[in-house]
Amino acid sequence: MSADLQGSGEGLAPIEIAGSVAVVTGGASGIGRAIASSLLRRGSTVWIADVEQVALASTVDELSSLGPVTGVLADVSDEVSVRALAERVDAESGRCNLLFLNAGVTSGGGGLPWQQEPNDWRWCFGVNVFGVGIGVSEFVPRMLAGGEPGQVVVTSSGDGGFAPVATASVYAASKAAVTCFTEALQLNLIREQDAVRASVFYPSGGLMDTGLYTAARNRPEHLQRRGPGTGRAGMSFDELKQRVAQATGREPAVADIAALGEFAVDGAARRDFIIARDLDSTAELLHRRADAIGDGRLPEPHRLGI
Ligand SMILES: NC(=O)c1ccc[n+]([C@@H]2O[C@H](COP(=O)([O-])OP(=O)(O)OC[C@H]3O[C@@H](n4cnc5c(N)ncnc54)[C@H](O)[C@@H]3O)[C@@H](O)[C@H]2O)c1
Repeated sequence: MSADLQGSGEGLAPIEIAGSVAVVTGGASGIGRAIASSLLRRGSTVWIADVEQVALASTVDELSSLGPVTGVLADVSDEVSVRALAERVDAESGRCNLLFLNAGVTSGGGGLPWQQEPNDWRWCFGVNVFGVGIGVSEFVPRMLAGGEPGQVVVTSSGDGGFAPVATASVYAASKAAVTCFTEALQLNLIREQDAVRASVFYPSGGLMDTGLYTAARNRPEHLQRRGPGTGRAGMSFDELKQRVAQATGREPAVADIAALGEFAVDGAARRDFIIARDLDSTAELLHRRADAIGDGRLPEPHRLGI
C-alpha cells in the first residue's frame, strides 16, 4: 500500500480556514456549536444545519458577532432536507470546503440490548448513520466537482468507534458503523486523487456537558418508543456524572467543549484522518482488543464506567 493510502491528507496542502465555507450539522448545540464558533473566529463562512429550531435560532444569533453564519433547519436523516441544504449552500456560497457531519443522538432506549425497540434503532441509525451517509452522498459529489480543497469530518465516538460501552449498545453500533464508513470513504477519496479527504473525529477529554444525554428532545413522534423499556429516555449531565462517579469511585474529568471545537478544526485543517486525543492509551486498548480477538476471546469494552 502506498504511503498516501496509509496516511491521510499527505501531499495535500492544509485547508485554509480563513475564507473557507463550512457546513456543520448538529451545530445548534454542544460540540457542533463549539466547532462552528471556532470556524467563525478563524474567518470561515459557516452554515449550521440543525433540527432543533429554537436552539438553532439562538445559536446563530449568539455567534453572528463572530462572522457570517446562517442557520438552516434540516433533518440529517432525511435526504430531501439535506439535498435542499446542499443546494442552498451551493447557490449562496458556491462551494463547501469543510463538511462537519456531527449531528448525533443516543438510542434513547437505555438499558440492555434486548430492551431496545425497532424505533430506538431507526432513530439512532437514522441520525448517526444515515445522517452521515446522506450528507456524504449529497455534498461529496459537489465538493469533488467544484475542485476546491475539501475535508469531510465525521463525528464518531470512542464508544463504538474504538470499543463499545456495554450499556450503549445501539449508539456504539452506530458509531462503529460511521468509523468504518469514513475509512472506506477516505480510501476511495485517495484513489480519486482529488483535493477532498475525510477525517473521523473522536470527541474526548472527559465527560461532555452537551445535549447528548437529553437527545430525545429531538426524537420525532413517529419514532417514539412503543413500550416502557427502562422508562428512562435520557438523563441530565449531573446524573451522568453521579453514575460515573459511583461506578468508578472517583470524580470524572469534564471536557472543555470550546477547546474540543478548536481541536476538531485544527485536525480538519491539517487533514488528519484520525482527530482524537489520548491516542496512546487508545492504541493500548486496541492492541489488547486485537490480542483477544486473535485468541477468540471477548475483547475489552470501553471504560466509561457505566
Ligand atoms: N457528548 C459526548 O459525550 C460525545 C462523545 C463522543 C461523541 N459525541 C458525538 O458528538 C456529536 C455531537 O453531540 P453533542 O454531544 O454535542 O450533543 P448535542 O445534543 O449537544 O448536539 C447534537 C446536535 O445534533 C442535533 N440533531 C439531532 N438530531 C438531528 C437531526 N435529525 N438532524 C439535524 N440535527 C440533529 C441536535 O439538535 C443538537 O443540536 C454527536 O455525533 C455525538 O454522538 C458526543
